[in-house]
Amino acid sequence: MVPITLILSSFFILLHFSAGPSLTYAAGGQWQLLQESIGISAMHMQLLKNDRVVIFDRTDFGRSNLPLPDGKCRNDPNDTALKIDCTAHSAEYDVVKNTIRPLMVQTDVWCSSGSVMQDGRLVQTGGFNDGERRVRIYKPCSTCDWEEIEMGLAARRWYATNHLLPDGRQIIIGGRRQFNYEFYPKSESATNTYSLRFLVETNDLNIENNLYPFVFLNTDGNLFIFANNRAILFDYVKNRVLKTYPQIPGGDPRSYPSTGSAVLLPLKNLQAQFIEAEVLVCGGAPKGSYIQATNGNFVGALKTCARIKITDPNPQWVVETMPQARVMGDMTLLPNGNVLIINGAAAGTAGWEYGRNPVLNPVIYRPNNAAGSRFESQNPSTIPRMYHSTAILLRDGRVLVGGSNPHIYYNFTGVLFPTELSLEAFKPSYFDAPALRPKIVSPSPTSETKIGYAKKLTVRFTVTGTVAKELLTVTMVAPSFTTHSFSMNQRLLVLAAEKVTNTGGTTTYEVEVTTPGSVNLAPSGYYLLFVVHQEIPSVGIWVQIL
Ligand SMILES: *[C@@H]1O[C@H](CO)[C@@H](O)[C@H](O)[C@H]1NC(C)=O
Ligand SMILES: *[C@@H]1O[C@H](CO)[C@@H](O)[C@H](O)[C@H]1NC(C)=O
Repeated sequence: MVPITLILSSFFILLHFSAGPSLTYAAGGQWQLLQESIGISAMHMQLLKNDRVVIFDRTDFGRSNLPLPDGKCRNDPNDTALKIDCTAHSAEYDVVKNTIRPLMVQTDVWCSSGSVMQDGRLVQTGGFNDGERRVRIYKPCSTCDWEEIEMGLAARRWYATNHLLPDGRQIIIGGRRQFNYEFYPKSESATNTYSLRFLVETNDLNIENNLYPFVFLNTDGNLFIFANNRAILFDYVKNRVLKTYPQIPGGDPRSYPSTGSAVLLPLKNLQAQFIEAEVLVCGGAPKGSYIQATNGNFVGALKTCARIKITDPNPQWVVETMPQARVMGDMTLLPNGNVLIINGAAAGTAGWEYGRNPVLNPVIYRPNNAAGSRFESQNPSTIPRMYHSTAILLRDGRVLVGGSNPHIYYNFTGVLFPTELSLEAFKPSYFDAPALRPKIVSPSPTSETKIGYAKKLTVRFTVTGTVAKELLTVTMVAPSFTTHSFSMNQRLLVLAAEKVTNTGGTTTYEVEVTTPGSVNLAPSGYYLLFVVHQEIPSVGIWVQIL
């Protein structure tokens, strides 16, 4: 092992000096089948601070393949499929042990939304039928289950988007036939809904194309809200549109059911006076695709991404071309700041039975590379992940992939894309050379560390080979709520290495960074913190910024 490692590391250093600080490892990535069946289809996923993933589907398709424990049954006279149901529609996945624990949701969570709050609880909102105005709380503990708040929402929320706010509340935006937003928790001054005309303006009659809007907290504290084919910068306190961004060239829709995906690109240069922010929107379905799909014509998906500096005084979209067309893809920020585009199909749209031609190859997008050399196709999975599939980042740097059920019921035979109950992990190529992965020694990887704002933070780590300060960063990633190809609250902060000290032999180092300066950059809460050297991240540790 040792000689191979040494050869590998000198190879990387050579590559670095000849090719510049961009790509220093081979392409590829690997797939790992974690569970052939967890008994439910992972339509929604959220990683919690105890390295468990809350997964849920919907309650109204009949029985799942995961029994509730101890002969428990749910008695719901309002359920549209089964009034008495002894199966689970939610589960907790223990990442470390690779095990599943059934959970009990009381009402229908179908196509809902959510966000982790600053104390680490998941607050999930809405759904369908008897679940449409529910708020549900899930605490991160090994024996906890869902708690439900009746009429917790001011309006029905189905296909809405949530985001954690700098003041610790979450905002819940839109949803089917809801051209407004609200907050949770409620306060005396904010009990109701607030209208949002932008959602009326972006609503294509009978097709919508503006559901699950892409929402990001900008560095100035306002919200970037994208729906259909364009976006606004929105002051949610004063209910005012501050900026209207141009339409993406071509004008094709990118939101549900023409489902593309989007990320806020890594926020960097956090010590600057003015901190830039960029958004990347990828894939979707051409205008008219949904109607075509209802008639059995599955139109080729969009092959383009569009990138925009949302903080620019005169912002313009720059269009780039992906290796493959994709609708219903997921975009996941990797700890090294690259974007993984994964799951989805090359034709059709979101909606029951409307996707065709699964795209099995993920793609990595390197935002810092020169235009034209940013995309790199990865090794394919064998499992199509169509409508209702998900992907989230885990603490060890793998991406958990699950779901896919384009049917109203669980159908395993006699259909084009059987209901998927499996869980896989995609392991990006930074898993190929374990010795080159930094390993965090302190703060402690096993206990939660509290960090403040605009404070010096020293991270001690070990790594094989010589550390170059300009190739070293510390990153912080917020764990996101993922469903319908969008990861709510997804954000990554790059903390520049200010000082690097070799503190023991050739393998132990300390890096000093400054933590984010404000709640607008990083709302208070739990983040995964990684040390990244030559684009290879450590396993993360949980930190709570407050
Ligand atoms: C559920 O059904 C009961 C009658 O069985 C009704 O009174 C109640 O309003 C329903 N709740 C919801 C949320 O639909
Ligand atoms: C899918 O499952 C439902 C419920 O079990 C069943 O009624 C339906 O016929 C199935 N569809 C196909 C195409 O097999």
